[in-house]
Amino acid sequence: MCGIFGYVGDRRNAGTLVVEGLKNLEYRGYDSWGVACKDGGALHVRKDIGRIGNVDSSEFDHDCGIAIAHTRWATHGGVTQINAHPHLSCDGTIAVIHNGIVENYEKIRSDLKKKGHVFLSETDTEVIPHLIEEEYRRTKDFAAAVRSACLRFEGRYAILALHTESNTLVAARTGSPLIVGVEHSSTPNPSSGGGGETSPSSRGGRSRRMEVNGYFIASDIPAFLEHTNTVQYLDDGEMVVTDGKGILFSDIQTGRERPKREVEITWSVEQAQKGDFEHYMLKEIMDQKESIARAVNQSEEQILKVAKAIREAKGTFLVGCGTAGKACMAAEYFFSVIAEKHVNFAPASEFKLYHHFLKSESLLIVVSQSGETADVLEAMRVAKAKGSTVLAIVNVEGSTIAREADSILLINAGPERAVASTKALTGQLAVLLLIAYALADNLREGRMLLLETCAKINDMLNPRYVERLRDFAEHIKNEEDLYIIGKSWNYPMALESAIKIQEVSYVHAEGFAGGELKHGPIALIEEGTPCIALIGNDEVTQDMLSNAMELKARGASIIGVSPERYGVFDEWIKVPNAGAAQAIVNIIPIQVLAYFLAVKRGKDPDMPRNLAKSVTVK
Ligand code: G6P
Repeated sequence: MCGIFGYVGDRRNAGTLVVEGLKNLEYRGYDSWGVACKDGGALHVRKDIGRIGNVDSSEFDHDCGIAIAHTRWATHGGVTQINAHPHLSCDGTIAVIHNGIVENYEKIRSDLKKKGHVFLSETDTEVIPHLIEEEYRRTKDFAAAVRSACLRFEGRYAILALHTESNTLVAARTGSPLIVGVEHSSTPNPSSGGGGETSPSSRGGRSRRMEVNGYFIASDIPAFLEHTNTVQYLDDGEMVVTDGKGILFSDIQTGRERPKREVEITWSVEQAQKGDFEHYMLKEIMDQKESIARAVNQSEEQILKVAKAIREAKGTFLVGCGTAGKACMAAEYFFSVIAEKHVNFAPASEFKLYHHFLKSESLLIVVSQSGETADVLEAMRVAKAKGSTVLAIVNVEGSTIAREADSILLINAGPERAVASTKALTGQLAVLLLIAYALADNLREGRMLLLETCAKINDMLNPRYVERLRDFAEHIKNEEDLYIIGKSWNYPMALESAIKIQEVSYVHAEGFAGGELKHGPIALIEEGTPCIALIGNDEVTQDMLSNAMELKARGASIIGVSPERYGVFDEWIKVPNAGAAQAIVNIIPIQVLAYFLAVKRGKDPDMPRNLAKSVTVK
């Protein structure tokens, strides 16, 4: 929710740089955008409604070495130019961009109004520059003023601030993500001798420190990946001050310095780009030819350790949001069918109430692509407060969830940029399936099954197959309603299918457990209503065929996604037979179908309305 990006350093085109980098964070929000560049003592500010992706970055080609930029997903205040960030202090010297919510902003605003501050927007954010301005009058120290202001805020936030009278960029976070990218020059810094890790900008493990040319501070790594792979993570409750040469991390509460290591990340720029694809969503669907195999390629020792932890725990909970939640729900079936083990799934936003069941011997497995989802973080904190152990299955290494968990498994899907999650889901399913097999003392069999499934998916995603799905999308693009049914692990995949279709094509789609339809929803079926049935070769195949028959008898047109063709199908989308991994293959043609439905209906599948990829507010 909201993307923020700032730069300070030797480069003189900071304005252009932040606008270009921010385009890579557009998935975090895209209703409006804004930029502030410091050019000597002057501040150039521009903001507008619409997408940062459509902005010509050369318009920000001022001679400047400090700039900040923001792409908004509105929470407080409508989508207007005035509500877009940056927001400024009364005297226009302080500019702030913000991700999150200052929950006590009304109180702060009324206090500030009494002191004569004038507010222009409806946002919670606008209190931040005004409060910093007030504190600056007192301290005459910009970083100290930001810190004092932060001490007053309640809620979750990440901010970036600059001041016309300071050459520093100041950032702070509590709850919302912020990552620092470090740009080194290619020559060693002659003044900085023999390595070591005492200086915050030193590079762990190198024999000679490299001179720093600049720092990037962003909500997510793709903003600066083109410039550097070296990062430093800000933890919650920390702030950072940098002038582009040096950097100081400190604790917001105590003001004490916090040492930081530099970490090299493995993502490449190419992985984070669209390549020849028109949209990220299709690129990421196609990435599944390789990404699932990367998820399967986990350390055996690690997976066995997780299986042991589940065996020993007094209660295992699986928690996630949205698509990741559907992976957790499928895992309930994996654990039951493969390992005869009961685990409990709860959507992260509902988990808070489960603390009554938690014990110090409980295990919480959280699943998250971004590793930043607010509700998941809250569930982890609830569990930690009870002394429970937390394992995280994440895609983004170094994310807040990854850092706060007791242990992690990475799905290694590579950057996922489209709002609709695709390759992260299949990676999550693969890892959860591996764990279920390990729990059944059958890890080798699980790995074999998954690797065979990867090969089958590689064959399935051929151009003819994709074209057929595109033609089928043309055929059903004007339908108003679509229903999807599944049973066992195909039930959460039916729910996931509905999410995919709804979020990118805006067609009304709903998923149901096959057997539940006759308890109400079947009343919605009319002559010709398209119903997708997700079927495998398993113990519930016959039940599913009966459910499909029940729909057909009411006039539904049945689209079967299945390894076999059955007489009840009006249309057959063939998928390979994958046994216990059927959920992974069955969801893929639906991802492709959802993508083409969006395109055929003239929607942008990468940026669906009202949504954001990383939901960092509750
Ligand atoms: C948002 C995204 C979904 C995602 C969910 C959970 O709603 O649009 O695609 O599944 O958040 O995100 P996470 O990063 O925790 O997997």
